[in-house]
Amino acid sequence: MPEYALLKACNIIKSYAGVQALKGASFELHAGEVHALIGENGAGKSTLIKIMTGAVDVDGGDLFLDGQLVVANSPQHARQLGIAAIYQQPALFPELSVAENIAFGIERKGLWSRIDWHGRRDRAIELLKQMGARISPEALAGELSMPEQQLVEIARSLGAEAKVLIMDEPTASLPEQDTQNLFRVIRELRDRGVGIIYISHRLEELALIADRVTVLRDGQTIDTRLMKDVDRGELIHLMVGRELSDVFPKREVQMGDVVLEIRNLSSRRAGINNVNLTVRAGEIIGLAGLVGSGRTELARTIFGLTPADEGEIRINGRPVVIGSPAEAIRHGIAYVPEDRRRHGVVLDLPISHNITLASLNGLAKFGALDFKREREIAVDFVNRLEVKTPSTYKPASTLSGGNQQKVALSRWLATEPGILILDEPTQGIDVGAKAEIHKLMCDLAAGGMAILMISSEMPEVMGMSDRIAVMHDGTVLEVLSRSEATQQKLLSLALGDNLGAQASLPA
Ligand SMILES: Nc1ncnc2c1ncn2[C@@H]1O[C@H](COP(=O)(O)OP(=O)(O)OP(=O)(O)O)[C@@H](O)[C@H]1O
Ligand SMILES: [Mg+2]
Repeated sequence: MPEYALLKACNIIKSYAGVQALKGASFELHAGEVHALIGENGAGKSTLIKIMTGAVDVDGGDLFLDGQLVVANSPQHARQLGIAAIYQQPALFPELSVAENIAFGIERKGLWSRIDWHGRRDRAIELLKQMGARISPEALAGELSMPEQQLVEIARSLGAEAKVLIMDEPTASLPEQDTQNLFRVIRELRDRGVGIIYISHRLEELALIADRVTVLRDGQTIDTRLMKDVDRGELIHLMVGRELSDVFPKREVQMGDVVLEIRNLSSRRAGINNVNLTVRAGEIIGLAGLVGSGRTELARTIFGLTPADEGEIRINGRPVVIGSPAEAIRHGIAYVPEDRRRHGVVLDLPISHNITLASLNGLAKFGALDFKREREIAVDFVNRLEVKTPSTYKPASTLSGGNQQKVALSRWLATEPGILILDEPTQGIDVGAKAEIHKLMCDLAAGGMAILMISSEMPEVMGMSDRIAVMHDGTVLEVLSRSEATQQKLLSLALGDNLGAQASLPA
């Protein structure tokens, strides 16, 4: 690893309308290293990288690239300097094709006519292929799932041949297999001398990919360490400043009757084919599978977003027809989608409104909103999930990514549904709050809720589920009990390999 500072941020200070996000944070990136940047939700990670990419103005401190002071940074300037970033939420042009998005992102000078558009497009598509992404270059970006969009964004940055590549939670919604592909690409880039800043809340993956790690807490740099010299416990301690157990053991709860039963369910539009599944009161079913296996699509079908055209859904033993989300909600189903920027929080509304938005009807007394009750509920969730904000009256746009996730989650939890479908419930959420969300899920199950949880994180699926349904190609291949599920068995099933799963049963 060449040991000179490719990018150096010194004593960076940044405030947003009264909130001091960075209080003199420093960071140093070498060429040819993967440098992880970690910290609790709201610690200032995204703000620091937005300063590097010129997306926000700095209040104080200096930024150096190759030993040169970067002055008057702007997104365009940073791109010209060779600093590329993939943000926490994909930012593609939905009405352009995958190929166009990739080629457009690679354009550095804004002069479309003078560059080898086709060459770059071909190279980026090649990268997409190298990454093992099964995505058509002709597909419209807006029609891709969130993880697919993320893969396109990564290919786009790779194609830009950046010197510094910044990734803000690139694997937040990527299942195991895709993550491994991404890591392979990251290592190749590192070996070519690219400096990579890698933000993630998945601590277990840092050991696999990072050379060094810098910890931010409350807008300050706490420490930079060699990854091989720190263990998980130490990292958590550096992040939160105290001891913390980050694993919440799943409680056994008394299970009740079957609440949700799905029989031979198909939705041609969603690509869902002949799905059978039951969920009992008090049960947490994990839905595992690769990107494109139909997990989110199944959730959308149950919730009436892409209604079923064949088969049956039964709720509490009675057949129901769910043609729209409104009907699903009437039947006591709540769905927390994975793409929480588009469907999750209303950025302009206060946090308190956001939390009570879905349970509003219940709060309306004599036709008027019960503001006191609204505030009580909001404050309760903000405290339980440790949403970092000075006030629940602030707009949701002032929250960090992870804290927005917590608000989106709170909104649906506040409706106290009979059936709760969670798509990547702890995506982008820090270790402490994650354990809190897991605890909350157990409490809800203990109260008789039936929970269907989609998660790409193997430890979460294995740790939280009573049973695990593995999806492949739009259908549920097999449902495993907690005791029969091993990581290897889940993976080979997810790859569509029923026989392989049986062959790998312990002798
Ligand atoms: N546009 C904004 N207006 C007001 N405050 C903001 C704004 N953006 C961020 N903040 C605040 O700055 C602090 C740092 O936020 P930042 O997004 O950098 O955190 P983060 O470390 O990336 O967290 P996460 O892990 O949740 O993504 C937070 O307290 C956040 O509420
Ligand atoms: Mg962030």
